[in-house]
Amino acid sequence: MSKIKLYSILGILTLTILVNIFAVPNKVFSANVPTPELYTEDSPPVDTDVDGLTDQGEINIFGTDPTVADTDGDGYLDGAEVLSKSDPVDYYSPGTMAEVSQQQAKKIQDTPWAWYSTRAAGIISYILLFLITISGISLSTGLMYKFFGQVWGWRLHQWIGIFMILSLVTHVSALLFDKYINFTIIELLVPFTSHYQPFFMALGIISFYFFIILISTSLFVIQTKYKLWRFIHYLSFPMFVGAFVHSVYLGTDTHTLPMLIIYWGSAITISLFIVYRIIFSLSQKKTEHNKLTQTL
Ligand code: HEM
Repeated sequence: MSKIKLYSILGILTLTILVNIFAVPNKVFSANVPTPELYTEDSPPVDTDVDGLTDQGEINIFGTDPTVADTDGDGYLDGAEVLSKSDPVDYYSPGTMAEVSQQQAKKIQDTPWAWYSTRAAGIISYILLFLITISGISLSTGLMYKFFGQVWGWRLHQWIGIFMILSLVTHVSALLFDKYINFTIIELLVPFTSHYQPFFMALGIISFYFFIILISTSLFVIQTKYKLWRFIHYLSFPMFVGAFVHSVYLGTDTHTLPMLIIYWGSAITISLFIVYRIIFSLSQKKTEHNKLTQTL
């Protein structure tokens, strides 16, 4: 073989080896190499998987997949993870969805007594409100005296009121310990300031204040200003409606059969008693009128 042929073969071999040395790694990493049009200076930013990060950023900075919105599959979008400073390529950062919901469930379970106390005391308050309204109408129509006598009729009405104050105070104060909704004292005391169902919460709060006014006027004003006391006592009807709407709309247990029976049973009974009360006072006025005309 001539020297020229030998050098030519060696030259071609060297060239082939050199080409492969540079070409193979280029082929291996070509998957990660951005396409030229994507990375030109003036190309507009693209977010193929709509996860809040541009494709350029995903490849060059964050190491996430520009075609998968949640690269590590932990339930959080890559963009959200970057914003909250967690690792978008680490499944366990900041915690999987399962872990987060477990933590939330634990948080609720930490103080279930507060929530149960609120609900139980709310239901007891409502039943007592129903009983105090019924016993009040029965007192003014004389029904109560027939069953319990004059002294015990009044005492019963008053004792229901005292128990109602205790159960209402429990109903409201237990909410301060509830970690799920997280009420502040202001939200529980000032109507319409609650971040949770402000309107229905306000109905409960206003009914509660009405109730305090009813009790205190019954204790201190009834003897001296009977007409004022009577006028305030008539407000117990709108108060009942307010507490009814509050309870039905906010109640966790509203859709259970016992509560449906309690709510609708009480509303129908109170309506019937109001009709009876109106008929009673009309017939009383008529007999008073007849007596007056007879004496004249
Ligand atoms: C006369 C006054 C009130 C009565 C009769 C009453 C009664 C009730 C009743 C029966 C429930 C439904 C309970 C259940 O279904 O589990 C309830 C729920 C609720 N009440 Fe009251 N309430 C009154 C005042 C208040 C006040 C003043 C507040 C707060 C300041 C309040 C806060 C709540 C809350 C947050 C719930 C929702 C609890 C749940 O989801 O069960 N209530 N109330």
